[in-house]
Amino acid sequence: MTAWPISRASAPIGVLLAAIGLAGVAALSAPTISSTIQLMIMSSLALIWGLYVLQLAGTVRSRLHRRAEADSATLAVDLAAVVVPLAGLLPDISERDQSLFCAIWVLKLLRGSAAFRLMARVLVNETRNLLGVMAIFGIVLFCAALAAHVLERDAQPSTFDSIPKAMWWAVVTLTTTGYGDAIPQSFAGRVLAGLVMMCGIGVFALWAGILATGFSEEIRRHDFMRNWQLVSGVPLFQRLGSAELAEIVRALRPRDVPAGAVICRKGEPGDQMYFILKGRVSVAAATPVELGPGAFFGEIALVTGETRSATVTASTAVALLSLHASDFQIVSGRSPELAETVRQTALERRSAVPKS
Ligand code: CMP
Repeated sequence: MTAWPISRASAPIGVLLAAIGLAGVAALSAPTISSTIQLMIMSSLALIWGLYVLQLAGTVRSRLHRRAEADSATLAVDLAAVVVPLAGLLPDISERDQSLFCAIWVLKLLRGSAAFRLMARVLVNETRNLLGVMAIFGIVLFCAALAAHVLERDAQPSTFDSIPKAMWWAVVTLTTTGYGDAIPQSFAGRVLAGLVMMCGIGVFALWAGILATGFSEEIRRHDFMRNWQLVSGVPLFQRLGSAELAEIVRALRPRDVPAGAVICRKGEPGDQMYFILKGRVSVAAATPVELGPGAFFGEIALVTGETRSATVTASTAVALLSLHASDFQIVSGRSPELAETVRQTALERRSAVPKS
């Protein structure tokens, strides 16, 4: 069964509508806007809301058919985008504030976003580490506020006469924001400010480090899973044990080539070989050859160190996995059987290449 058109095109359209809607909400917040423009924007918001009702219907329908794209988060965003703006119609809400409820559409910008999902996974994976650094932040914040209270309360009672009040100064200093509304007067207070700023830089560097590591690990894990699925479809690798397979999964790089593109050219030096996952390539050998899914090519240059023996062109759009020469050496060390098959094929094909 096909999806409704609104559901199929819904992700980019939903984002575009959200951007227009949010611009409208921002414009309506200006008190000087004319009533004609106000009416036009309100009508656009009503239209966008109507389209979001259709999008919600499409998501509910997809969910009933258990389609992967309609997960719980998507459904929650689509539901909130329809229900929350209705709260603007409650009797107590002033006309000026009605449109503010449409600001919930900001969630549509994140709906289905791979980057957002990645960030959510990183935050979940790194929760313990992030909370650990948050605890350090809290401790430093409290100690800074306490010390500032003791050092500055006599000179500036309006800002530092209690720890909660000094906390504002501590937050502004620890985050190195420095509004300048509270400045220590005493020498000791300024030394304290310097130390707190340095601690702040350290805490944020820790956070940034945890997030950066989390992102790179998540991307590596994702690439590994995708490559594993791709590699297990290549017959040559099916005899490998899981350790060797894991080695080759790390080494292979997926590459998509459009129909008609030259993948390697005769006479050029070659530093990688290719495995075909999908599509067909044509080898301009003495007797032209077509290779399809599961076959490999580009191995002669790798095995012999010579230049490419033939030009290879994509006959259709092709999905390839490429293996670099240095990785081929490593993989050969771990899996001599696989290396032998590649070598044998290279020698057989090379013997068919006419001597120039
Ligand atoms: P290489 O010489 O590195 O680059 C061109 C590739 O085309 C070559 O490796 C082989 O993989 C492939 N090739 C060359 N001749 C033949 C052939 N006769 N049959 C199949 N493939 C070939």
